Amino acid sequence: MQVAGKQAPNGDDSVGEGDPVFVARGLSKVYGSGEARVVALADIDLDIHAGEFLVLLGPSGSGKSTLLNILGGLDAPTSGSARWRDHELTGAGDAELTLYRREHVGFVFQFYNLIPSLTVRENVELVAQIADDPMSADDALGLVELTHRLDHFPAQLSGGEQQRVAVARAIVKRPDILLCDEPTGALDADTGRMVLAAIDKVNRDLGTTTVVITHNSAIAGMAHRVLRLSGGHIAGEDRNATRLPPGEIAW
Ligand SMILES: Nc1ncnc2c1ncn2[C@@H]1O[C@H](COP(=O)(O)OP(=O)(O)O)[C@@H](O)[C@H]1O
Ligand SMILES: [Mg+2]
Repeated sequence: MQVAGKQAPNGDDSVGEGDPVFVARGLSKVYGSGEARVVALADIDLDIHAGEFLVLLGPSGSGKSTLLNILGGLDAPTSGSARWRDHELTGAGDAELTLYRREHVGFVFQFYNLIPSLTVRENVELVAQIADDPMSADDALGLVELTHRLDHFPAQLSGGEQQRVAVARAIVKRPDILLCDEPTGALDADTGRMVLAAIDKVNRDLGTTTVVITHNSAIAGMAHRVLRLSGGHIAGEDRNATRLPPGEIAW
């Protein structure tokens, strides 16, 4: 199976060294005004390194999705700066952000949003067709261990299997960064662990820089590094000396 990524496979020892691939400084996001004013992010500084597996942990409303959406070029900050390698995301226009997302970013959301009338393989091929240097849909589905379901339709799969299709769809274009917003939010523990195992494998085997948002602190054990968000601030940061295999996460 040919699944070599753009980056070197993830030697855990070297992750975190060298220049960061994502740099945010003084990032703030304010929604609304007057009585409806909400400070979603307040003065966030953040560096992310190539190959890193980062977990953003925090309660509902703490600013996790807002931060992830800025990182993925889906949203713009109110102030501060954000840069992906040599792409300045702050102040970029819609066309530039669309290109950034298409070329560099894979998204996985809580809900799978597969196209119901297409098979598993076709759902993944659709993204591969518009990518520069994709792997094959079958290889992407092999990574998430769904080779036996290629010709099924989404409605014939469990929620966890559909989410693994969504992971394959996100990584078939070999993105530089995989952004997952509550990927197990709609799943029970057993199927959730299989989805996390798929994400973990992408990070380890392809070296894809990975950010996972969760309010489930048990998931933090998988990460190289955990950022705790609270009220739009980074309230703390931990580095795991060893990473917990997804199969050992207690829900
Ligand atoms: N489009 C929006 N308009 C107004 N307020 C928003 C919007 N999006 C998010 N917020 C507010 O910003 C804060 C952070 O939201 P969010 O980033 O979604 O948090 P989390 O993902 O941690 O639950 C919350 O108080 C939320 O209500
Ligand atoms: Mg959220």
